Amino acid sequence: MSSKLIAPSVLAADFANLQRDIEMINQSDADWFHIDIMDGVFVPNISFGMPVLKAISKHAKKTIDVHLMIVEPDRYIKTFAELGSNILTVHYEACTHLHRTLQAIKAEGMQAGVALNPHTNVNVLEDTINDIDLVCLMSVNPGFGGQSFIENTYNKVTQLKALIERKGASTKIEIDGGVTNKNAKQLVDAGADVLVAGSYVFKSSDQPKTIKDLRILANS
Ligand code: DX5
Ligand code: ZN
Repeated sequence: MSSKLIAPSVLAADFANLQRDIEMINQSDADWFHIDIMDGVFVPNISFGMPVLKAISKHAKKTIDVHLMIVEPDRYIKTFAELGSNILTVHYEACTHLHRTLQAIKAEGMQAGVALNPHTNVNVLEDTINDIDLVCLMSVNPGFGGQSFIENTYNKVTQLKALIERKGASTKIEIDGGVTNKNAKQLVDAGADVLVAGSYVFKSSDQPKTIKDLRILANS
């Protein structure tokens, strides 16, 4: 079985010391950089945009996993490819023509991800799952770091894993929001492949150790 991956969320980094925190992730056991782009319309918060992602890309030495929490994501697919995004995740709730959007992401050479809000049933992906490289299950309502994990996520992981297997898809399952050492093992046991962790990593006193221990726990 392939390794379970850890993706620290840069949203929780110290933006006045961004290069230091990027280097910390580079040197750590983390697998991906998780980058949260918020537009203040799809979600009630604005994070950061293109110039900041450009600066991150310049230093990041691992897969860049971009999570778009924006309306009309199609308008920016090409731009995010140019900025170094390896995986581009759009929200199901923000896409009128999801199938077309997925093809457009792949046409730019990126892997295509779809995020589902906590209220969105996994069955909405029944007809697109074979076109999706990554499903990001939101385990908090998107918009802010540091929120509490929603327990119903375990059921959603189980349902999504069953859907992926039934359809013979190779889609990875990512969990985003409130991930800690308290829920990591149960999430991977249910079928999760990638764990995003923001506050849990960056608020800890020994960030590389927190990443390392989380990765060991996820693969135990
Ligand atoms: C929330 C973002 C998350 C966030 C996770 O809208 O999509 O990626 O950074 O942060 P924590 O791990 O603090 O819940
Ligand atoms: Zn995210």
